[in-house]
Amino acid sequence: MTPIIAPSLLAADFSRLADAAAAVHGSADWLHVDVMDNHFVPNLTIGLPVVRSLRGATDLPFDVHLMIEAPDRWAPGYAEAGAYNVTFHAEAAADPVGLAKTLRSAGALAGLAIDRDTPVEPYLELLPHFDTLLIMTIKAGFGGQRFMPEMLAKVRTARQHVNAGHLQVRIEVDGGIADDTIEAAATAGADAFVAGTAVYGAADPAEACRRLRALATR
Ligand code: DX5
Ligand code: ZN
Repeated sequence: MTPIIAPSLLAADFSRLADAAAAVHGSADWLHVDVMDNHFVPNLTIGLPVVRSLRGATDLPFDVHLMIEAPDRWAPGYAEAGAYNVTFHAEAAADPVGLAKTLRSAGALAGLAIDRDTPVEPYLELLPHFDTLLIMTIKAGFGGQRFMPEMLAKVRTARQHVNAGHLQVRIEVDGGIADDTIEAAATAGADAFVAGTAVYGAADPAEACRRLRALATR
């Protein structure tokens, strides 16, 4: 599958989110929206009202990453708000398969996220119910952290499982993805790449997306 480049708005200016979306229009595939609730992770970002407003401000598909407690209760609202993919954390969901079904029937892709300290093996058998598997390459909660190459063992395991089962699941990596780390993640089997600091910390975010795409495609 051709790589997906998903700039994370977490590294953008929150007072100008529509401008941040416009800056990568035509060079990014998805816009990654990090929702944090100050409970599942210590940080607090944006929620449903902001996602709803922003949905009207750009054509880019939204890749919503919910770092929240009780996703079974809150995630469907993001699908109804027009998110393209809604990813919730395995550590937080009471009924991940049931929630995936709800998200799909609301018209979104369903994503399962695995945080730094969570092994991937127990979740492999759930993958037929999902469209994306997000493997954190940092501890979820903050942007600008250092990429953890040891997390790529999980990507390799997931890639083998997905290929062996001919599953239609994208394997997404999130955390510290930049010019010097994206190739290793792609080689391990990732085919969707979230990048916050590497895109919105760059002088030219669109050019940063194009460079990341070229490195992931090599
Ligand atoms: C952190 C978020 C990431 C974050 C990545 O928990 O899930 O999406 O924006 O930021 P960088 O690319 O700066 O590591
Ligand atoms: Zn994220």
